Amino acid sequence: MSVKITIIGTGYVGLVSGACFAELGHDVICVDADQRKIDMIAEGRMPIYEPALDQLVARNVELGRLRFSNSTKDSVKGRDAVFIAVGTPSDGAGRADLRFVFAAAMEVANAIDQFTVIVTKSTVPVGTNHQVYSRVLERLGHPDAFAVASNPEFLREGAAIQDFMEPDRVVIGCENDRAKAVMERIYAPLTVKGSRLVATNIETAEMIKYAANAFLAIKVSFINEVADLCEVINANVNDVALGIGLDHRIGAAFLKTGPGWGGSCFPKDTRALLMTARDAGMPATIVQSAIEANVSRKKSMVERVRRMCGGSVAGKKIAVLGVTFKGQTDDMRESPSLDILPPLVLEGAVVEAYDPSNPHDAAALLPEVTMAESAIAAATDADLIVVLTEWMIFTTIDLAELASVMRTPALLDLRNLFDRGKAEAAGFTRYVSLGQTGESIGDLAIAEPSAAINQ
Ligand code: UGA
Repeated sequence: MSVKITIIGTGYVGLVSGACFAELGHDVICVDADQRKIDMIAEGRMPIYEPALDQLVARNVELGRLRFSNSTKDSVKGRDAVFIAVGTPSDGAGRADLRFVFAAAMEVANAIDQFTVIVTKSTVPVGTNHQVYSRVLERLGHPDAFAVASNPEFLREGAAIQDFMEPDRVVIGCENDRAKAVMERIYAPLTVKGSRLVATNIETAEMIKYAANAFLAIKVSFINEVADLCEVINANVNDVALGIGLDHRIGAAFLKTGPGWGGSCFPKDTRALLMTARDAGMPATIVQSAIEANVSRKKSMVERVRRMCGGSVAGKKIAVLGVTFKGQTDDMRESPSLDILPPLVLEGAVVEAYDPSNPHDAAALLPEVTMAESAIAAATDADLIVVLTEWMIFTTIDLAELASVMRTPALLDLRNLFDRGKAEAAGFTRYVSLGQTGESIGDLAIAEPSAAINQ
């Protein structure tokens, strides 16, 4: 039986979840206070970059299962569940800023007219759902009018629809049987196909979200550390990742070495977990080490660029492939490019970058970097190409053409997208990647992370 769902917030999580819930057959209203976003969506333009999302939205709008509104008040009456999917940015200290979550919860409390489950999908620190419960209870005065549930999301940008429709698990933290039944009905189309539903108390569900992201970030930092070691002991990190990843206890995912992890989630969530641990008086040394290692990682990437340029980048033209935090997204939030490119410009390099998503905030976030129309335009007269993002489309670039327009054909591949043989055959006289024999970082001075943890 279909469920009447309202989702507050049309960012990555809200819009993808709304479209997918509609695709599962539910009746969905997506709300965003930003009328500009609502207008864009009505015109078929998505406010976020997510493959195939526009078709999914269009189909469900046409079928009458998905609507959009700018008014929470008008959209939460007569609904079974209202999902809060608003932003929880880091405040200055690294804690999640919960203002938007609480504001949304109070707007819902002010308008609901039947038993409604208030579901938090935004990533919120342990204890937040209980705070939402207390605030709403204070407003409504009686506990039978509503319930709260925690339902964290595990959607990767760029693969969000697939992650939603074929989840490894659905996590529901809920301490009210009536609400649990609503949540089970919502996810029934997925659980009947075999997706596992993990039902827990509320704090556990909140913790699962942070533990998942922190674990994945640690995994990437681990392979990055192994990559550095591989370079000096004549081993190949790609093969090490394969060799350990085939062990099902380890798993192959998130073992690709790179310039450091970024994005809107790993940095924010690892910092927030650290804060939760600090507040609880518990050490979180492993998470803390991963954060520090990631800061060092990005600094060591800058040093690699310097080395490729003979010790100094002054006067060199550096072409960069990719500025987003990973491939297949236009998102630049906490992208490694933001830490790696500005120091190069400060040291006198001319940096020209090409990113297939043409990120709208590149000019604001990297004002000192020129954005090129194509990889060839960026590479023209360059002394070095640096691959920063693992865009799939880069793997079909004509390397020979790139090499032919450069001043000195050198390639620093910080995503291990290419291989030395092919690069050399294409005319590159120097090819350096991560975690492989060849040119090693050797005695590369890796800067101390120092106060980075609180940055
Ligand atoms: C991450 C999680 O993967 C999702 O499960 C979660 O729902 C989401 O955060 C969230 O909390 O909303 P996302 O931020 O889209 O998703 O990005 P990931 O694909 O996880 O990549 C994170 C960073 O790690 C990127 O900078 C990426 O380049 C890097 N990475 C990832 C590697 O360097 N190597 C890998 O093998 C995997």
